[in-house]
Amino acid sequence: MSTFKIAIDGPAGAGKSTIAKKAAAQMDFVYIDTGAMYRAIGLAAVRQGLRPDSDISGIVDMLPDVNIDLAYGENGQEIFLNGENVSTEIRLPEISVAASDVSKIPEVRAKLLELQRSIAEKTDVIMDGRDIGTVVLPDAQLKIFLTASVEERARRRFEELKEKGIECDFEEVKRDMEYRDKNDSEREIAPLRPAEDSVVLDTTGNTLEQSVELILGLIKERREV
Ligand code: DC
Repeated sequence: MSTFKIAIDGPAGAGKSTIAKKAAAQMDFVYIDTGAMYRAIGLAAVRQGLRPDSDISGIVDMLPDVNIDLAYGENGQEIFLNGENVSTEIRLPEISVAASDVSKIPEVRAKLLELQRSIAEKTDVIMDGRDIGTVVLPDAQLKIFLTASVEERARRRFEELKEKGIECDFEEVKRDMEYRDKNDSEREIAPLRPAEDSVVLDTTGNTLEQSVELILGLIKERREV
């Protein structure tokens, strides 16, 4: 029997991961955060002293030695870079920008595409990212494109970082978000855009609970068809 796949795409801070995590727990699906995989490669590049926006050949050469593993436990998805748990470190603001930069490199995308598809073949998933509905899982039974105003997305991300004890400045968070929006939407390969058959939801002004309810409703509707 083929697996049930839900794709959630959208810009940074639209609430994808929080909403997908809650929905996955309720539906007993595995939640896959593909952004974490790009972040792990961004981190690997930074650690090797490579510039994610310009040392393209250095990053491509590094890829065969970059092993990414995922584990699922009480804390949800944890990500390992060459055996080291980097789940916390990849959330640093400079790694967000590095992830967006390395995600423009075709070889990086090809490596991760394979990993993402192989997981979705084995189990029911809610996968979030930028190109899940358009490229990774074009046959997903439900595709959602989540968005919100840049002001609201920056505010949510700022609060999230503050809660985690990561020091940051609101204007800087907003600037990074605008940089990533442009980078992720204008790149040549697998740019951020809603799949033609996606449901587009603008969560500006919604509470988290309202967005989760909306999405759970869509999932239940689609599973009954
Ligand atoms: O979802 P996130 O903010 O953790 O993602 C970090 C970066 O990774 C994002 O700016 C672009 C890139 N990314 C991507 O290109 N494709 C995906 N499917 C997921 C993330």
